[in-house]
Amino acid sequence: MTVLFARLAPVLVVVTLAGCDRSTATSPSPVTSIPSSSSGPLRTAGSAVNKLVGAAVQAGLLSDASYRTVLDREFSAITTENDLKWANVEPVPGGFDFASADAIVGHASAFGMQVKGHTLLWHQQIPGWLDGLSPDALRQAVTDHIQGVVGHYRGRVRAWDVVNEALNDDGSWRDTVFWRGLGDSYVADAFRVAHAADPGALLFYNDYGAEGLGGKADRVYALVRDLKAAGVPIDGVGLQMHISAAGRPSDASIGANMRRLADLGLLVTISEMDVQLAGVGGTQAERLDAQRAAYHSVVALCVAEPRCDGVTFWGFTDAHTWLAPDLPLLFDVQYQPKPAYSGVLDALSGR
Ligand code: XIL
Repeated sequence: MTVLFARLAPVLVVVTLAGCDRSTATSPSPVTSIPSSSSGPLRTAGSAVNKLVGAAVQAGLLSDASYRTVLDREFSAITTENDLKWANVEPVPGGFDFASADAIVGHASAFGMQVKGHTLLWHQQIPGWLDGLSPDALRQAVTDHIQGVVGHYRGRVRAWDVVNEALNDDGSWRDTVFWRGLGDSYVADAFRVAHAADPGALLFYNDYGAEGLGGKADRVYALVRDLKAAGVPIDGVGLQMHISAAGRPSDASIGANMRRLADLGLLVTISEMDVQLAGVGGTQAERLDAQRAAYHSVVALCVAEPRCDGVTFWGFTDAHTWLAPDLPLLFDVQYQPKPAYSGVLDALSGR
């Protein structure tokens, strides 16, 4: 199947995702005029190996010219960091507020970037009115929410994190408002409703702590394997990759986990990568080099895995990170590239 994957001015890039068995794909919105000089090193190197290079973005930051300059130059994909979470996009029942997310999607479209909508069902950043609904009312609210949000962006958002973090660290079901009210089947139902609302969008299950082989990764694997076997329209798994330069799953373990997910016919995406420095010893230069090495290794694993569609970082500048005061991203607080940036660029370039 051919997927319109990324448009990098002035060339329309068409990428074949081998074995991707979904029959339709999102058509990106037309790109207007982007000077070719706007395609910076990461974006160019990612395009050469058919990998999206993404960043989580908050709409409020798009008014900052320094932020925008780096975003538009280096990245071919955006994930909405907070603006599509339920509490923000549907704070009152049926009262959708798409203003912030529309700004992100519009910006992405103007700069030829793909969008991943994050996230339809998660236990955090949800409105209080979900508490205490009867099962029937909750089911209706979930259906209306997914239809409302996915439907609004039909044809404009490439992919969705349909369900985020449904499992505990030990692999058991997380006790969320959705699981309590609807049982295990809420996950499959969410994918079905999302697919009906936009049959062209790629649908992901997203989680953390399941990057390398292990108990939780085994449960994520079993969950998505069973969804696939039941004919549920799931296209991929997001490995969040919030890791530490002080210790992380081995490359072999992450690579093997990615491969077994890919063998199910699923895409794999590195969905929220950042690399914490806390706990890393040595001089600051040594700490930043350990961070560089972690970024290099993980991005190289994605480059080596044909079904890994790309890497999205959970932000790109240390000036704006959920992990502050840690310095976990590719650019420093002054928007200057760090060793981590070179690590990513080297991996995308096969170095
Ligand atoms: C985080 C955001 O980055 C913060 O700004 C917000 O306050 C809390 O959520 N896993 C996820 C993301 O799936 O949605 C989280 O994002 C980080 C952990």
